[in-house]
Formats: sequence, C-alpha cells, structure tokens
Amino acid sequence: MLDHFMPPVFLGKRLHLGLSGSIAAYKMLDVLRAWRRCEVAVTATLTQAGARFVTPLSLEALGADAVFTAMFDDSRAPDAFGHLHPLHTAQAMVIAPASATTLARLAHGLADEILSCQALAFQGPLILAPAMNPAMWHAPATQANWRTLQERGCICLEPDDGGTACGDEGRGRLCRAEHIFLHGLKALSSQDLAGLTVLVTLGPTREYFDPARFWSNPSTGLMGASLVAAAWMRGAMVHAVCGPGVPALPPGVVRHDVVSAQDMHEAAMAVYPRVQLAICSAAVADFAPVPYGPRKFKKESSTEPFTVSFTRNPDILRTMGQEKQPGQVLVGFAAETDDLDRNAQDKLIRKNADVLVANRIGVEESGFASATNAVYVVDRQGRAELWPTLPKPEVAWRLLDWLLPELHRSA
Ligand code: CTP
Repeated sequence: MLDHFMPPVFLGKRLHLGLSGSIAAYKMLDVLRAWRRCEVAVTATLTQAGARFVTPLSLEALGADAVFTAMFDDSRAPDAFGHLHPLHTAQAMVIAPASATTLARLAHGLADEILSCQALAFQGPLILAPAMNPAMWHAPATQANWRTLQERGCICLEPDDGGTACGDEGRGRLCRAEHIFLHGLKALSSQDLAGLTVLVTLGPTREYFDPARFWSNPSTGLMGASLVAAAWMRGAMVHAVCGPGVPALPPGVVRHDVVSAQDMHEAAMAVYPRVQLAICSAAVADFAPVPYGPRKFKKESSTEPFTVSFTRNPDILRTMGQEKQPGQVLVGFAAETDDLDRNAQDKLIRKNADVLVANRIGVEESGFASATNAVYVVDRQGRAELWPTLPKPEVAWRLLDWLLPELHRSA
C-alpha cells in the first residue's frame, strides 16, 4: 500500500469515505487500514447497495469512528445532521467504489440518499473511483456524468482495464487500491509545491562488465522514493529518474527507468532545463568497468590475478551545478562514513549545489537500505542542522519544508 513512504504528518486530519454498491468495496477495507496506520481519522458512509457488500461493523472494526447508513433514523449516526457531517468535520471526501448510480446522483445534484446528500453539501476535495461492469462504464449516460464531474473539478480516478467479477473483460475495475490510498493523503496535504516541476534521481546504478556481472552499490532508492512521494503529495509535477530496483511510485509521477550512470546522466539532463527543483539522491557509481564485451567472461580464459580497468562516469550533480539557471534550486546528497559537516560543506561548494544533505553510511539505522537516516543539512545561506535519526519519509518531508524558503527566494 506504499504506507512505508508516508511521513507522520496526518494526525488531526480526517477523511470521509463513501462506499456504493460494487463487489470492489472489500478492497477499501485495506485502504481504510492503511489510512488509519497513517493516523488519518476516518468516517464512512455505506449506501444501501454498498451495505450489501461490506458491513458497517467491518468498517468500524478497522477504525472508522462513525459509519452512516441511512438519511433518517440511523442509529449509528452521531448527530441529527448526518448529511452535513463530512462538510463540518472532514478535509477530504473519497467515494470508492462509486457505482453508476452514485455518479449519476452526483452529476445531477440528487440528494435523495445519505451519501449523495453528504457529497452535495461537501466543499473540500472530492475523489471519485468508479467500479462497474464495462458495458455500464461505456454507456453514454455514465460517460456524460463522468465528464460533468471532471469538469466540476472532482479528482476522478479512471477505472482500470481487465477482468471484472462478472466475467466480462474491459474497463470498469476499481483502480488500484494504493492509488486511492495515495490520492486520499494528497488531498489532505498542503499543496505548497503546486505549480513546481521537481526532478529526483534515486536508487543505484549498474555498470556492466559483461552480460552477467556488474559494479553497483546497496542503495534501494527508499530515500529518493520518499522524496518523490512527498513532492507528489504536496502538489509538484515530479520526474523520477530511477536506477534498478526502485520501488513502485505514486501514480502521475513521470518515471524514467535507467540502468547505468551514463543512462541516468542522459535522462536527468534531458529533464533538468524544465525543473525548478532538482534533488540528486541517487547513489551513482563513480566508475564503470571497461566492458569485457558482449560475451560472458569465462574464468578459465584468464590467469589469476587478473585486472579490470575502470573509467570515470559523468557526475550528474556537478553537471547540473555547472548548468544551473536562475530560478533553479539544486540539492545534493553525500554518503559519508566520517566528517559529515566538512564533507557536506565541501560538496556544496564543489558541485555548486544550493543545499547538501550528508547522510551517514557504515552504521546501523542510517544510509543504504536502512528505513531511517541520520543527516546533516547545510545550505548556501549558512543554515546548518544535524537532524536526529528519523524514518526516511520524515527526512523527506522535513527537507521539503527546509527548501520552501529557498524555492520562494529563487522563484
Ligand atoms: N552524484 C552524481 N553523479 C555521480 C556521483 C555522484 O550525481 N557520478 C551525486 C549523488 O547523487 C549525490 C552527490 O553527487 O547527490 C554526492 O555523491 P557522493 O557519492 O557522496 O560524492 P562523490 O561526488 O562521488 O564524492 P566521493 O565519493 O569522493 O565522496
């Protein structure tokens, strides 16, 4: 569900979840749990048809703290004005699965049952994730309703293609549960990076010696993926240039998968002129072995010891520093075993970055493949801070907070 990318910033936020009639409703139980793991408070509404597929008790047991099921005489409702409950309490509303009937009610402003009535009154972001049979999805009435809702500014998550429960093939499946999860969190986040284009390099690179062997490092891309997720949630348009093994990223992130440092250099430099913020978190291999060739190196073919020669790879951060334009903010990382502060200052100047984040490697709880990071952050204005060991998603969120004045200054 990608909740390991999520920073602890959702305490005190509330989502209202509406479920209408579709077998896909069961998938929302996992989404509800994931939101609760992120400390998001959740209330819910089941339409009459929705309540045939999951029960109020299922939602309550997984952490929904009020579940509405009817407009009148709802014994579960916390107040007499249940139709206004999301309006008064929630910062975002998600309807998933949204049935054809629910879309029709919303498009036409009908308020004849509890969920559509709550949605009509709600004034915050409204996320819709339909699920239905492909023939119903393609029906002109459904398509017209969907266009109307898009034009009104609803956040519309298209259904996926594939097999549906009834055995038909086509578009109509509920979109991936983690997309609904992520869009819910995004709707709760301040959109303070809206309008910005951000580039992140992340993960390791692989420098092949022969088709079976390469030179690399233990980076998993978790720090970079946390930065990508945080920037996306805060409204940026994000390009992620990913080395091998980088995990799934939020929908809507433009992902460029690469293998070698040379590929990463080309992909990143192609995007760089269009971005206002570039963050080089990738663990780029500084050297590449001179390739043996297209055939596998056979150990019998050489006497021991044998030598492998290396050539220097392009330094992406340094190239970006040389080509930096006014209005661009450049952030580098540094993986260090010692002297975090001295090395960070040195790399900040040498690579013409605006901010440098040095993280400790070679210790537990920081650096490669660790869930947490211990970093020292320094910028050109003379700000310098040593942060405690924190989960990588929290480091990512804090770093974007730290960058906000820098981004405003250079805007
Ligand atoms: N970097 C890069 N391209 C490279 C090497 C590094 O873009 N070929 C970037 C990394 O993404 C990171 C920063 O440069 O943001 C520092 O990386 P690091 O490996 O710590 O520093 P190096 O410049 O390689 O110096 P050294 O290994 O000598 O400490």
